[in-house]
Amino acid sequence: PSDLTAEERQELENIRRRKQELLADIQRLKDEIAEVANEIETLGSTEEGIQFLIENDLLKNTCEDIAQFLYKGEGLNKTAIGDYLGERDEFNIQVLHAFVELHEFTDLNLVQALRQFLWSFRLPGEAQKIDRMMEAFAQRYCQCNNGVFQSTDTCYVLSFAIIMLNTSLHNPNVKDKPTVERFIAMNRGINDGGDLPEELLRNLYESIKNEPFKIPEDDGNDLTHTFFNPDREGWLLKLGGGRVKTWKRRWFILTDNCLYYFEYTTDKEPRGIIPLENLSIREVEDSKKPNCFELYIPDNKDQVIKACKTEADGRVVEGNHTVYRISAPTPEEKEEWMKCIKAAISRDPFYEMLAARKKKVSSTKRH
Ligand SMILES: *[C@@H]1O[C@H](CO)[C@@H](O)[C@H](O)[C@H]1NC(C)=O
Ligand SMILES: *[C@@H]1O[C@H](CO)[C@@H](O)[C@H](O)[C@H]1NC(C)=O
Ligand SMILES: *[C@@H]1O[C@H](CO)[C@@H](O)[C@H](O)[C@H]1NC(C)=O
Ligand SMILES: *[C@@H]1O[C@H](CO)[C@@H](O)[C@H](O)[C@H]1NC(C)=O
Repeated sequence: PSDLTAEERQELENIRRRKQELLADIQRLKDEIAEVANEIETLGSTEEGIQFLIENDLLKNTCEDIAQFLYKGEGLNKTAIGDYLGERDEFNIQVLHAFVELHEFTDLNLVQALRQFLWSFRLPGEAQKIDRMMEAFAQRYCQCNNGVFQSTDTCYVLSFAIIMLNTSLHNPNVKDKPTVERFIAMNRGINDGGDLPEELLRNLYESIKNEPFKIPEDDGNDLTHTFFNPDREGWLLKLGGGRVKTWKRRWFILTDNCLYYFEYTTDKEPRGIIPLENLSIREVEDSKKPNCFELYIPDNKDQVIKACKTEADGRVVEGNHTVYRISAPTPEEKEEWMKCIKAAISRDPFYEMLAARKKKVSSTKRH
């Protein structure tokens, strides 16, 4: 309008400019938000994701805030949360403890508490990580439920007994289903040398029997391979270790962290035993046979694998293989064998850890 004073016109111009600037700001913010959202979506790991949120002032760099973020974490990948919380780094361990403290376990029985805990992330497969997380869980449970267990070790050991019970009772591959009496018997003496109340064990057993643990992002690999000896048996071809290399058809059984092979399925004595301790497994191409894999000692050229075999005359001699080359009948069976053998190999430290705890809780004398 023409009847405005010069001053008023100037003022109007200023307002118009500020409005433009504001709109530009809003657009910039929108772009940033879209970019952040996009970045979060495409970020590979929780580690990077948290770093990104911190750098963009969207998350404070304290363990409590990060724990809160992961605990609420709607839409976050629970596998990635598990990996992050399981890291050995001092800061991650603090986050883990803050995370566990966000769980309220007061007056819950151990199965109810485990249901809640195991649903808040996906337990990673690595023994050391599982150990740290379950240790933190046991501490928190005992803190919330004073006097139920003599020590956190008791709580820890019983927690694993329950997780394994879940697998035994609900995994169709496990044929041998323990009774409540066996479950009670298996947990004798774990309360610092004393027994836990039978009533308590019975309740926990019934609870798991009636409803298995659910785990988030169950991809079919239900940790059975982590906690359980993945027994498997079947026909495979094995390349001989002698000077003349021949393929022999053998009946293989994977159990107790060893591979046993027999000439016939009905044989009582194996032709050979290969302990899997310290071995690795890899896929290999063979010009003669399909679906091959190999057991070998990592970082080693000539060392002979510790194993034994029975000669034709019945003598038991040391094996003479630097690698064991094996051929499966089908690609699927090769995959399955490799998976089971890998699990048998990697699960070992976990069993050692658990065995050490069990020894501790059953040897402590109560006064
Ligand atoms: C979650 O993350 C893991 C590895 O961090 C990945 O393998 C998996 O596919 C992810 N799951 C989903 C549903 O995105
Ligand atoms: C409990 O068993 C069910 C059925 O086999 C399985 O899906 C689930 O992953 C198991 N939970 C744990 C924590 O192992
Ligand atoms: C595996 O390695 C450990 C440590 O090097 C060694 O003490 C153990 O005897 C090895 N076991 C076998 C069966 O070779
Ligand atoms: C083991 O293999 C090496 C080389 O192939 C051979 O010299 C040696 O005699 C073999 N030992 C046994 C016990 O078969």
